[in-house]
Amino acid sequence: MKVLVIGGGAREHALCRSLSLDPDVTSLHCAPGNAGIADVAELHPVDVLDGAAVAALAVNLGADFVVVGPEAPLVAGVADAVRARGIDCFGPSGDAAQLEGSKAFAKDVMAAAGVPTARSYVCATAEEIDRALDAFGAPYVVKDDGLAAGKGVVVTDDATAAREHALACVAAPSGRVVIEEYLDGPEVSLFAVTDGHTVVPLQPAQDFKRALDGDEGPNTGGMGAYSPLPWADPKLVDEVERTVLQPTVDEMRRRGTPFAGLLYAGLAITSRGVRVIEFNARFGDPETQVVLARLRSPLAGLLRAAATGQLAAYPALRWSDDAAVTVVVASHNYPGTPRTGDPITGLAEATSDSAYVLHAGTRLDEAGRVVSAGGRVLSVTATGTDLAAARTAAYAALAAIRLDGAHHRSDIAATAAGRSAG
Ligand code: AMP
Ligand code: GLY
Repeated sequence: MKVLVIGGGAREHALCRSLSLDPDVTSLHCAPGNAGIADVAELHPVDVLDGAAVAALAVNLGADFVVVGPEAPLVAGVADAVRARGIDCFGPSGDAAQLEGSKAFAKDVMAAAGVPTARSYVCATAEEIDRALDAFGAPYVVKDDGLAAGKGVVVTDDATAAREHALACVAAPSGRVVIEEYLDGPEVSLFAVTDGHTVVPLQPAQDFKRALDGDEGPNTGGMGAYSPLPWADPKLVDEVERTVLQPTVDEMRRRGTPFAGLLYAGLAITSRGVRVIEFNARFGDPETQVVLARLRSPLAGLLRAAATGQLAAYPALRWSDDAAVTVVVASHNYPGTPRTGDPITGLAEATSDSAYVLHAGTRLDEAGRVVSAGGRVLSVTATGTDLAAARTAAYAALAAIRLDGAHHRSDIAATAAGRSAG
């Protein structure tokens, strides 16, 4: 099978790594990719938002199968453009990707499907905003309706800041803002592969969204992740499949916009039960790095079964008993405007039997050196017999890497590793 992966982050490096290990994959391509993906796939330049260009690339390569990583091309309909050329594609249609592309749409689907989520108001005017903020009180949760790369959500005790963000959102193109009840409790990311009928949940993971240790500092795309979750109820995955994933997939089909691809449920485990914080229409980053580190079933077969409506016949997934931890190395000043172009060394030294380095914002400079090229630069990923061992291996690998001005969190999986050790 000749496979083309679209995207160029550490999530796509993790996808490409797993695809390269699948014996059914005979040739692997990625567009645009990054310096690390170049080790396992042939890279091609492409504008990932240009469906015609992506589809033409797939046709020219003779690709049998395309996997679209990021949300922006999915929402732009890139998977539709690929399928229109007769090529199997993993990723929802542009219409179905509205589950991530519009928070108001996602709320509407959840209401129709009876999926538990935060109570919310969709507001378009200052009066509606004030009424909604008053109705819920602090902490205020204010969400831009459209895609905002993790930066559209403000959670604050400050009513003025909440109101300002809400007004800025209604001034933006969608003209709408979602204001919702605050959900208290640990967060879980649960991914499911689906063909629009059958739902196959993956193992749950936890993400660390804030920039600094102790969940301080600004929100980011994600600074680290781990899996499994030793503290979670063993019945959690079954419960979420029954109350969230299957009803959502059924409702999307009923609406005539079947969702086939990766359904990502961002969940809060509250004292009143599990609630959906958000849906995404693609693999999460950096959770994918730890989930795929533990998946033993061949990835290409699973994703192709989802893309072709064959999931019901797909054998049960096999998982490693190992735990996995990933720590993100970020550029100087991330999540503000990151500094780029700094050389990265120690990558070979960081790699061992238990650890490997997935690239995100990296590229080769004219001299062939790996240099930083984005905010999140690397995902240092390690496995071990338990979270404590995986964590130790991840931080040992990270210590070998040099990138001027870089920062990372030092507490990824620390609390959970302590609990799993008893
Ligand atoms: P989202 O972009 O919807 O994932 O939101 C980003 C982050 O904001 C989430 O991971 C949560 O940490 C936080 N958040 C979003 N919605 C809520 C909510 N209703 N209650 C508490 N925290 C929230
Ligand atoms: N890790 C959060 C996300 O991928 O949206």
